Amino acid sequence: MKAEFGDFQTPPALVAEILNCLSKSNNYWERVFEPTCGRGNFISGLLALDKPPKEIQAIEFDREHFQTAKISYENTDSTRVVIQQAKIFDFDLSQSLKWSTQGNLLVIGNPPWVTNSQLGRLGSNNLPIKTNFKNFKGLEAKIGHSNFDITEYIWIKLIQELVFEKPTIALLCKTAVARNVLQFAFDAQLKISNASIRLIDAKKWFKASVSACLFCLDVGSDQPSYQANVYPNLSASEPESTIGIIDNKLVADVKAYQKSAFLNGSSSLIWRQGLKHDAASVMELTYISEGVFQNKFKEIVNVESDYIYPLLKSTDLFHGKIDSKRGVIVTQKKIGEDTSHLQQMAPRLWQYIGSHSEQFDQRKSSIYKGKPPFSIFGIGDYSFSLYKLAISGLHKQPRFRIVYPIKNRPVMLDDTCYFISCNSIEEAILLTCLFNSDVCLEFLKSITFLDAKRPITKKLLQSINFDALLNNIPQEQLIKQANSEYQGFKPYSNQKLEWLSALELLSKNTH
Ligand SMILES: C[S@@+](CC[C@H](N)C(=O)[O-])C[C@H]1O[C@@H](n2cnc3c(N)ncnc32)[C@H](O)[C@@H]1O
Repeated sequence: MKAEFGDFQTPPALVAEILNCLSKSNNYWERVFEPTCGRGNFISGLLALDKPPKEIQAIEFDREHFQTAKISYENTDSTRVVIQQAKIFDFDLSQSLKWSTQGNLLVIGNPPWVTNSQLGRLGSNNLPIKTNFKNFKGLEAKIGHSNFDITEYIWIKLIQELVFEKPTIALLCKTAVARNVLQFAFDAQLKISNASIRLIDAKKWFKASVSACLFCLDVGSDQPSYQANVYPNLSASEPESTIGIIDNKLVADVKAYQKSAFLNGSSSLIWRQGLKHDAASVMELTYISEGVFQNKFKEIVNVESDYIYPLLKSTDLFHGKIDSKRGVIVTQKKIGEDTSHLQQMAPRLWQYIGSHSEQFDQRKSSIYKGKPPFSIFGIGDYSFSLYKLAISGLHKQPRFRIVYPIKNRPVMLDDTCYFISCNSIEEAILLTCLFNSDVCLEFLKSITFLDAKRPITKKLLQSINFDALLNNIPQEQLIKQANSEYQGFKPYSNQKLEWLSALELLSKNTH
């Protein structure tokens, strides 16, 4: 099946652009290897160069593609072309490529863009067998991970098995794969250097909605480097940023990170993710009029109002719309709490959720297994605090917001949002000033990869050293800022004491 082999042949025009890009610095490679050559579009492009390589070796698993490539290119006069039918995972790159030529080696191509989980769904075994990993430190564990892309494995295999050849490797892949390879290479101390990421328009070339690139690096250097210049396209001569490993982790902008690196650490405050229920059609409600809510089926929901809380989603947070347009049903006060008491305490709610039990039964995530009926997650005392500092996880531009009660009810956030629960409005205001400060936003941007589906994560937020952030801004300045920016909340005329006690609580992390 096409999908399980990630079978998207690279258009010849893109191949030409890639070869043009690679030959810019007057590089010439006598030998070229294509690990998954398909119908041979890269081979064709290489043969059409003014100075084609002396020898091209390639492998392809699919019989039809293999034969097409073999018939088309093996009898070329100027260049020795050898194409083998093989599965890259079973192919010993150090032994089975029999070169008849000496000289620089380029590995080029476009391996399949498929993840473990996609292969799992397709029932495919287009995967490396585990015994292949015995020399690949840490890779065996990774392969069990459902988001593991098989191109990552191909990258690492190429780097490890061809290190003695000191090749340049240039492959089309997702930018997320390029990042994972950099991180893996660092963790396993593989000898790589001169890495670059050149973004390509995957929508235009492959009709794929994913961030992709030509990832290129040299293998075999005795002075490895785990940074990569990022170029906006294949022809740009200036990088727009440099990503790289600093303090053992991959950062999105090395220069910006270095300016704010003192904020790297771990947060003494706990970041929480919003409510998770996976039953939005029943649990999430739209406000119609005072006390009247509607669900996604357009049914009026008549349940005990104590169990409906105002709800904000990530777009609301991003745009600063703290209003009561939405509601959410909250069935528990803490994770795992028994829900059977609702039958007596809230008979209308019990009847409502019971009549939609199929929506709850359909929830796929294993977290709901063995839990009380109608269970939710991301719920605890922290959910009910009246004031919160919150941020959307889905937006590229980080913007921290104060969340305050609506009609005296604490506001809930959905699971695309992250928050810190606060003891008081003063605390929430101070935190918002601190987290929206230039230095904090710069730090956050420097570690955020904008092409990720969820650029801001709990892990990322938890890596902001709050004590360092607090100590970085003089108290007087912070209080002044808090006063001027948030006068709307209360008439703050003379409340320095309130600020100071909130600051003290924050510095002691007692909330
Ligand atoms: C994205 S296509 C690219 C083809 C070609 N490199 C090009 O750029 O036009 C990926 C190719 O990998 C081949 N392939 C998939 N799994 C493979 C495997 N395990 N070993 C070798 N080739 C494989 C597919 O048949 C397909 O031709």
